[in-house]
Amino acid sequence: MPSTAEQLHAVQIAPSILSADFGRLRAQVQDVLAAGARVIHVDVMDGHFVPPITFGPLVVEAIGDAVHAAGAIIDVHLMIERPERQVVEFARAGADSITVHVEATPHLHYVLAAVREAGCAASAAINPGTPAAAVSEAAAADSLDMVLCMSVDPGWGNQALIPSSYGKLRRLREQLPRSVALEVDGGVHRETAARCVRAGAGVLVAGSAVFDAADPGAAYLELAAAASAARWPAPEAALDADERR
Ligand code: DX5
Ligand code: ZN
Repeated sequence: MPSTAEQLHAVQIAPSILSADFGRLRAQVQDVLAAGARVIHVDVMDGHFVPPITFGPLVVEAIGDAVHAAGAIIDVHLMIERPERQVVEFARAGADSITVHVEATPHLHYVLAAVREAGCAASAAINPGTPAAAVSEAAAADSLDMVLCMSVDPGWGNQALIPSSYGKLRRLREQLPRSVALEVDGGVHRETAARCVRAGAGVLVAGSAVFDAADPGAAYLELAAAASAARWPAPEAALDADERR
């Protein structure tokens, strides 16, 4: 079985349960797993770092068996202040990778080490207003398994991808060692998925595009097909104006 870090290197769609029907959460997760999803994205919000409050470790635990039985992983995205205080709880609950925001802690190096210590892949997220260089020291220190590039402001699903995100993804992909996976989160749908892959993203988080569809499994498959048809690096001539920025 591939390691978590290996699983994060494939070009793929990571359904985000933020847009799922919570009354049928397990069934909805099982739908996308049956369709082939191998990364399930869990958005944790604390009402401080971002206004909404969503899930805690109990929700990770509730879907853990189903996800792991399918050979898939749980990708926890912590949109919380001082994430270093919560890492162990999420790891115990079944998280396989844990992403912390660089804007949410003065102790990035420490928290990334704590994530690995807890047995998870370590990832740092940057908001749209944060420069790509904010993860360069963590990359140089070999503290990162993945970088998550927010392509919308964090806190809500169903927003439009900010077009300058393509250029930022390209810069990140060029700047980061190949051993560091690149994830994009926000506004991924059928048209933007291919553009994100051409810009260098591998893991494409998709919430509303999967779970607002009548058939989430079919929506996942359509997105996965669009993503896997695209290639990085794309020839300059294949890029549109937004992607060249
Ligand atoms: C937003 C979350 C996303 C969200 C994306 O703060 O981090 O993971 O689920 O939703 P869509 O795919 O609808 O933009
Ligand atoms: Zn997310």
